[in-house]
Amino acid sequence: MKILVVGGGGREHAIIKSLKKNPQITQIFAAPGNGGMAQDATCVPIGALEIDKIVAFAVENQIDYAVVAPDDPLVLGCVDALTEKGIPCFGPRANAAIIEGSKVFAKDLMKKYNIPTAQYEAFDNMEAALNYLQTAPIPTVVKADGLALGKGVIIAQTREEACQAVRDMMEGGVFGKSGSRVVIEEFLTGPEVSVLAFTDGKTLKPMVSSMDHKRAGDNDTGLNTGGMGTVAPNPYYTDAVAAECMEKIFLPTVAAMNAEGRSFTGCLYFGLMLTPNGPKVIEYNCRFGDPETQVVLPLLESDLLTIMQATTNGTLAETEVRFADRHACCVIQASKGYPAAYEKGFEITMTPEAAQCTYVAGAKLENGKLVTAGGRVTGTTAVADSLEEAIREAYRLCDDVKFENAYRRSDIGRRALQA
Ligand code: AMP
Ligand code: GLY
Repeated sequence: MKILVVGGGGREHAIIKSLKKNPQITQIFAAPGNGGMAQDATCVPIGALEIDKIVAFAVENQIDYAVVAPDDPLVLGCVDALTEKGIPCFGPRANAAIIEGSKVFAKDLMKKYNIPTAQYEAFDNMEAALNYLQTAPIPTVVKADGLALGKGVIIAQTREEACQAVRDMMEGGVFGKSGSRVVIEEFLTGPEVSVLAFTDGKTLKPMVSSMDHKRAGDNDTGLNTGGMGTVAPNPYYTDAVAAECMEKIFLPTVAAMNAEGRSFTGCLYFGLMLTPNGPKVIEYNCRFGDPETQVVLPLLESDLLTIMQATTNGTLAETEVRFADRHACCVIQASKGYPAAYEKGFEITMTPEAAQCTYVAGAKLENGKLVTAGGRVTGTTAVADSLEEAIREAYRLCDDVKFENAYRRSDIGRRALQA
């Protein structure tokens, strides 16, 4: 079988390494992939947003199954375009990917179907938004409607800060069209949990839960990033919480999307906050999380391709989705300065042992050498019988992945250990 994976980061590398365990797969292409995954996939120089080229490549190369991993091609209809040409694929159609593509859509869906989430108001008029902020409870949360590379959320501690965020988004255009509408919502507190779930639009099977570390600095300080590390499972996500989430959030979301004529297939990501008033949805993503995937898939014992195909064929109910009863920790190494300015072009080296469990993101091959080419460069995952051991092992292996100006947090998993 020939597989095409659309995307080029650490998440895609983790998907590819997991798919590779299936002996029926003879070749995996990545569009565009990156130089750090060249051992595991054939990288083709087609960008994840070049949908016409992706479809032409898939048809020409007789791809048997495609996996569309990033949010933007999903929102732009990559799955629709591939499906139209007879290429089966993993991921939602554009009309369902809107659950991530528009925060206003997601919030309105939750309100209509009674799915617990923060109270909110949506605005497409700046004066009305500013007016609302005169009396809104503080702190408050301002969110750009559309995709914003994970940066479209401002937690405002003061009224002035909230008004500035609204002006930046709606007048300053800092997120382009994504900020022409905003959601202003209630500030919630509690531990955060990420739950990724496979769904074929009828059945939903959650994966092992995880915990992201979004801030750049130790003890959750500094700027928000795409994620500096993850652990799985998330200790706050007990069986009782899981049962409550299934009943009040997961199944109602699948049903709501069906009722709206937007059946969702693929991986539905629930960003949850366990508030004193129960679990609430912070955000939906229409795809695997990054770097959640880098701890979730190493714990998957069932065959990933079989499950993915079941989401496309509508046979997920009969398909086994089993995870090891173990722990995983992923530590991201980034270019010093990320998520702001950073230098790149430094050579990356790793031992064979570390390479086996390292997922490469911001890197490229230059004259046969792997060099840094992005903010988040590598993610190194260890799996062990205890969380403590997984953390220790992940840091040990990280020491064997070297490049100049490497930066990592030193406390990935600490909060989970203290839980
Ligand atoms: P998002 O990009 O939607 O994942 O939001 C980024 C982060 O902002 C989340 O992981 C939360 O830590 C925080 N956040 C988003 N919405 C809220 C909220 N309503 N209350 C408190 N924190 C929030
Ligand atoms: N790690 C959060 C995300 O993938 O959006």
